[in-house]
Amino acid sequence: MAPTHTLLTLLTGVILLVCRQSKSLDNDDNDDDDDHLLGASLQTLPTLPPPPTGDLSEVRFLLWTRHNPDNDQHYRLLPGDLNNLQQSPFHPHLPTFFMYHGFSDFGKCGWILNSKTDLLSKYDCNVISVDWEKLVISPWYIQAVENVYKTANYTASLIDWLHDTVGLEVSRVHITGHSLGAHTAGLTGKAVTSGKVWRVTGLDPAGPLFYTKPPDQRIDKSDASFVDILHANSGSLIEGCIGLFKAVGHMDFYPNGGMHQPGCIITPDTDVDDWLDLFGGCSHARATQLWVESISALPPALSFTSWPCSDWDSYFVGNCTSCGEGCLDMGFHVQEGLSGSYFLRTNPISPYALGDTQ
Ligand SMILES: *[C@@H]1O[C@H](CO)[C@@H](O)[C@H](O)[C@H]1NC(C)=O
Ligand SMILES: *[C@@H]1O[C@H](CO)[C@@H](O)[C@H](O)[C@H]1NC(C)=O
Repeated sequence: MAPTHTLLTLLTGVILLVCRQSKSLDNDDNDDDDDHLLGASLQTLPTLPPPPTGDLSEVRFLLWTRHNPDNDQHYRLLPGDLNNLQQSPFHPHLPTFFMYHGFSDFGKCGWILNSKTDLLSKYDCNVISVDWEKLVISPWYIQAVENVYKTANYTASLIDWLHDTVGLEVSRVHITGHSLGAHTAGLTGKAVTSGKVWRVTGLDPAGPLFYTKPPDQRIDKSDASFVDILHANSGSLIEGCIGLFKAVGHMDFYPNGGMHQPGCIITPDTDVDDWLDLFGGCSHARATQLWVESISALPPALSFTSWPCSDWDSYFVGNCTSCGEGCLDMGFHVQEGLSGSYFLRTNPISPYALGDTQ
C-alpha cells in the first residue's frame, strides 16, 4: 500500500504541473477562481495543498447553451433551486451533454471548452461541465477516488431532479469524462434512477485503484444504453501507462494500440520514452484531443475509421483488414449497435484522423 501511495503521489504531482501550465495558457476568461488560484500557488508553492474535504457544495455545474455560448458566459446551475433553474437558459427537451474533467484538472479546461464550442455550433443543446476541481486536488488521489462516488451520486440526483421538475429526457443525456472523470461519468449513469442514460463516453479511464474494481464500482457498459471507451495511454504503470487497458464498454477503441500515441514517443520501444510519456501526460491527454477533433470530423476523409480486431499485434501485421460486421468511426459520431474492440492508426499531430486508411 505504502509504495503504491508514494508512486501515485509522485505521478500525480508531475501531472499536476502539466495541467496547471496548460491552465495558464488556455484559460483566458475572467473566472473568479483564477486570481484565487494564482495567489494560492504563489504563496503555498513549497507546501502541499490541504486534502479535499469532499464537500459537495464545492462542485459547480456550469451550463452553456446557444443563448450563452461563450466561455465566460456559463450559467451556474444550483441543484434543487427552482428559482435558479427557471432563470437559467436550460432547455429540458434538447440533448444534454455532461462533461467531467480528470484528476487535478478543472471545469473550464481546454477540451471541455472546445467540446462545448463545437457542440453548440452544430447542435441546439445543453452543455454542462461538472467542475469538481476542489474534490480532485493533486496529490490527493486516494481522496479523489472517494469523491468520484460522491460526485457521481450528486450529479445523478441533479439529473433526476431535472427530470422530475422540468421533464429532462434522460434518454437524451450523454455523459463524457476524462481519466478519473470517466469513472465518475459511468457511475453517474449507474446512479440515475429516472431512466436509462443514453450514452456514456470514457476518455482514457484512469487505471490506478480501478484495475481490480468490479463493474459496479467503475465505468462499465451497464452505465448507459451505449458506452464507448477511448483508450490512449492504457496499460500498467510500469509500461508508462495511466489508463485502464481492459475493455469495459460496449465498444472499446484502441488508437495506435491504446498504450502510447505517436508524437508522444520519440524512439519507440524504449522504457525511458514510455516513462516520459507518462510524466508528460501526452498520450493520456491525446484522448481528449481525438475526442474534440471527432466532433467536427466529417466522414470519410476526416473520420477515425476503426476496424474490429482482437489485439494490436494482429492489427499491426495486417490481419484485420476486414470490417466484419462493420467498421466504426471512433469518437463522437460512432455508430450504435455493434460491440467489441476496435483498432486504428492516427497521425502524430493534428489533424489526427486518417479517414478510412488502415
Ligand atoms: C451512491 O449511490 C448508491 C446508490 O445509487 C449507493 O449505493 C452508494 O452508497 C452511494 N455512494 C456514496 C458515496 O454516496
Ligand atoms: C496473422 O495471420 C497469420 C495467418 O493467419 C498468422 O500466421 C499470424 O500468426 C497472425 N499474426 C498475428 C500477430 O496475429
